[in-house]
This record gives sequence, structure tokens and C-alpha cells, in this order.
Amino acid sequence: MAQKVTVPELRARKRSGPKLAVLTAYDATMARLLDAGGADVLLVGDSLGMVVQGHPNTLPVTLDEICYHGRAVARGAARAHVVGDMPFMSFQVSPERALDAAGRMIKEGGFESVKLEGGAPYLEHVRRMVRAGIPVMGHLGLLPQSVHAMGGFRVQGREEAAAERIVSDARQLEEAGAYAVVLEGIPSELARRVTESVAIPTIGIGAGPDCDGQVLVCYDFLGMYSDVRPKFVKRFAELGDAVVDATRRYVAEIRSSAFPGAEHSFGGTPKPKPLPEETGAKPVAEPNKPAYGPASDDPS
Ligand code: KIV
Repeated sequence: MAQKVTVPELRARKRSGPKLAVLTAYDATMARLLDAGGADVLLVGDSLGMVVQGHPNTLPVTLDEICYHGRAVARGAARAHVVGDMPFMSFQVSPERALDAAGRMIKEGGFESVKLEGGAPYLEHVRRMVRAGIPVMGHLGLLPQSVHAMGGFRVQGREEAAAERIVSDARQLEEAGAYAVVLEGIPSELARRVTESVAIPTIGIGAGPDCDGQVLVCYDFLGMYSDVRPKFVKRFAELGDAVVDATRRYVAEIRSSAFPGAEHSFGGTPKPKPLPEETGAKPVAEPNKPAYGPASDDPS
């Protein structure tokens, strides 16, 4: 059984390295694959509103939905730490509401920590959660939950005043007890400044190479999501093309009757089984049968 990546280990990696490799995940199968590939942290991001649910932004995602996806990812993550995004309006209203929402995420969502967007306005929220034993990851720079206030998904912190605010927010989040901070959509130079200003790891996305780790949305890095193609995304595979190609071949083989072939079919004429009332036996569940169909020819 793999040893779980813990919050103390994630903090220590700022000094000891190696850099943190973080990916988003939304289901158990993907979580299992990313975990097997060595991802340190799996983030159930509210990006699921865009890449899973098809919304134009992350705002509609609910706490129940994050918890549902969290439970699935937690089942697939043998080693990776699992962190959940606090959805829009699950924490902004008050520190009490934030604590309540974060508590549900730990109890019902299977999460090992939570992430929230924003700095100075939410320090008390962070303190409350940390005091309750809930590890918190911060998120500064481009804040997708503030897409309307920002006028779109735009790089933040280009002016000195805005850059200073981000550095100061990062320091204050650290003081409030956050164990790491995501830096999204800021100039590389500013991300380096933040990284040098705090003792907690910074995890960049569109923030250049000098952070203590990097995060990408799994559908982006696998080349499966084409609605938006930001400059900072590197595609490590082209699974979107592979899926379309596989589907075309599947459709063609069904139309030509090439699939299913004999190797995918069950041989012989099935003998009718006696009904339970004919044998006097009680019908019982068959525990060793696969969940959705027989794996091989079953002569019984
Ligand atoms: O929702 C998300 O996936 C995120 C990452 C992009 C950092 O917040």
C-alpha cells in the first residue's frame, strides 16, 4: 500500500524538493491513472464546472457536486494528497459558513484539505478552518470565481500596486496558517517574488517556472479540452484526437459488422437455467460476477 502524501510533507518539499506535481482530477479512474503516474496532489477543482459540466465558468458548481467528485477521486488516489476547491459562495459569506462548508468537504467529500480563492478578505476564514484541523491551500492572482469582476480570465498583478497586494496577500495567508498557495495567471517575475517571500510552497499555473510546484487541469494536459487553449497549457498527450479517432473506427466497425467478432462473443447456445421455483432454491446474488457482465464464456 502506497504511503499517502501528507500536508507536512508538502510543506517540507519547498526546502527539500522535488518540485510539487499537481493535477486536477474529477473521477476515480482518472485519479488512479494520475496517481500511478506519480502526481503528488490531486485537486478536485471547481474547473469541473467547465471541463466536466460544460459551463462557461466555474460559478455554478455546488458544494454537493464538489463532494460527489471528491469521494470518487479519494477512492482512486492511493498516494496523492486530495484537495478540494471551495465552490463560489460556499465560503465568501462568513468565516462560520466557510468552516461549515470545509467541514462538510472533509466529512462528506473525502478531502484531506481545502482550497479557497482570495487573500486579505478571507484571513479569518482560513484561521477558523486551520484551528479546526482543516489544512487550507490559498489561491491568488487570477481568481476564476471573480471572472465578472476581472472582466474575463486576465493575467493579474501587472501593475506594481496589484503585484504588492499579491505578495502581501501571500504573506498574510501564510500567517493565517495556509500550508501552500496557488498562483494563477501572474507574470513569472511576480511569482518568483512571492515564492521568495513565503516559507510555504507556491504552486503555479500560468505563473512561470520559479514556483515550488505546478498545477494543470487534467483535460488540458492530456489534450482533451479545446474550448479554451491558454498559452500556459502544455499538452503532454493528444487524447482528444485519440478519442475522436477511436469513436470513428467504432462507428465504422459497427456499420460494417466487423465488431463484435467471434473473440468478443460468447459461444454455444445458452442452456436455459432452471427457475428457482423449479429447484426449490432461494435466488441468491452471485458475489464473484463482474459488475456489468460476464468476463468470459460461462458454460453454466
Ligand atoms: O479549479 C481549478 O482547477 C483550479 C486550478 C486551475 C488551480 O483552481
